[in-house]
Amino acid sequence: MGAGKSSAVRAVQRSGAAEARDLDAAIEAREQKRVLDLFHADEARFREIEREVALELLEKADGEVVAFGGGTPMDHDVQVALADHTVAYLQVKPAKAWERVSRSDRPLVQRGEENFNNLHADRAATYEGLAQVIMSPGKPDAIVGALPWIRALRERPPGTRMLLASSASGSYPIIVGRGILESDWWPIEGRSFYVCDQNSQRHYSDPLRQVAGPIVLEPGEESKNMVQVTKILEEFAERELARHDYVVALGGGVVGDMTGFCAHIYQRGVPVVQVPTTLVAQVDSAYGGKTGVDLPQGKNYAGAYHLPAAVIADVDALTTLPDDQLAAGFVEVLKTGLLAGDELWERVRTIDKIVPAELDDVVFECARFKCGVVGEDEQDTGRRHILNFGHTVGHAIEAATEYARYGHGEAVGLGLLAALRLSEADRLRAEIREILVRHGLPVELDPPGDPAELVDAILLAVGRDKKRTLDGVGFVLLSEPGKPRERELVDPAMVRGAVEELLP
Ligand SMILES: NC(=O)c1ccc[n+]([C@@H]2O[C@H](COP(=O)([O-])OP(=O)(O)OC[C@H]3O[C@@H](n4cnc5c(N)ncnc54)[C@H](O)[C@@H]3O)[C@@H](O)[C@H]2O)c1
Repeated sequence: MGAGKSSAVRAVQRSGAAEARDLDAAIEAREQKRVLDLFHADEARFREIEREVALELLEKADGEVVAFGGGTPMDHDVQVALADHTVAYLQVKPAKAWERVSRSDRPLVQRGEENFNNLHADRAATYEGLAQVIMSPGKPDAIVGALPWIRALRERPPGTRMLLASSASGSYPIIVGRGILESDWWPIEGRSFYVCDQNSQRHYSDPLRQVAGPIVLEPGEESKNMVQVTKILEEFAERELARHDYVVALGGGVVGDMTGFCAHIYQRGVPVVQVPTTLVAQVDSAYGGKTGVDLPQGKNYAGAYHLPAAVIADVDALTTLPDDQLAAGFVEVLKTGLLAGDELWERVRTIDKIVPAELDDVVFECARFKCGVVGEDEQDTGRRHILNFGHTVGHAIEAATEYARYGHGEAVGLGLLAALRLSEADRLRAEIREILVRHGLPVELDPPGDPAELVDAILLAVGRDKKRTLDGVGFVLLSEPGKPRERELVDPAMVRGAVEELLP
């Protein structure tokens, strides 16, 4: 209730993209009475009518959009009938839904906000269990753009799910599943031009529809530079890539960041589909539209916001990923679990071993969390800053050791420990330390030379953080899972203490 289902139906009707029906309107047409009156007269009888009409609509529906009432999918017969259809859950925060409906005369609203919230909580698990598509709140017509993807999902490899991410500059589908890259299922119409690196090419570029062979980068961060940007752009031009074509970034965060950046500036913008093949990219870098290229002066010093046209994450791609890359990705998972709290945190903290075949849900939930945050703040002026948790000291460790001594994930793992010390979250810090050890990640710095010099170099790099403001460097702090606080200024002596604590 209050999620925007009826508005979505109206948007589909206006667009002419599909037939669309609203269950309430169908009930009123059949019974020649208002839903409100039917409900007030006899709630049990109303539920029977609702079930009958819902089942009739489902029986007839073929490629149509049907909006149900909030209670409709709670019925067992309806749930069974839904198995032949694609179910989309328009997820809305209870407070937002209440704001929308609280002044309406709907019967369940009359019972007050607490009852409304309880109902919402009771039903959410059923919605989640039924849905193959989760749509975060966005403009009602976002569903119109998503329809071809939702339709394509009917032919998907089993278990594939879709998230429709929405933020200020638009919406895009995220597909998460297994076996997608090896299957014939490829929901993109139109010409595709691939960018990959030697590793992603070796493993995955073959089955996909491409106009010409892929543009192939050398693997690793060293490729993330302006020379390679020029090379990619010139290749696009040589191949006569046009604005109605797609660029596909097939690889890890380096390929994704570079390709997204090139897609942003080539002919002032062409669509990019992100096909992440590392854990870092599947849980983090492929979403949210940040692109970046390194300059000699700093990592990601050039960049742009360019939302993907779609993200297709095939979790099976992770099976060829070396262990150190899996562990690096796991640190981003850990960070996301800490930021999200609740179920995701509980799931992440109990992972004993990182097994790619078991990561579908974790990838989906990390994507969902990140997209929720980006939805509130696409251009990183507020809430999105929390995604930097552990990264301020983490990036500084990478910079102070010239990106050679620690992998990004290793450095961020150490950064998480420092951030938790600054948050004075001692118990949580001890638990994260134990989790990092469990996954073979470092929990101490191992300076090859003078430890004091390394600490000074790290603190210097912290002071140069890209996100500093005139007030200083703001840290993301978190005293308990799910409760991050962004842009907190911290006493420099405490920062020094938190970094020194990382020495053996
Ligand atoms: N844009 C964002 O929001 C964002 C967020 C986080 C990180 N990043 C960026 O992402 C980059 C790190 O991403 P990454 O860790 O994916 O690095 P990466 O792209 O360098 O990939 C890591 C390694 O894995 C290899 N690889 C990729 N897919 C493989 C597969 N399926 N099997 C075997 N090997 C495979 C790559 O060739 C590479 O050697 C950094 O440049 C970072 O700045 C961006």
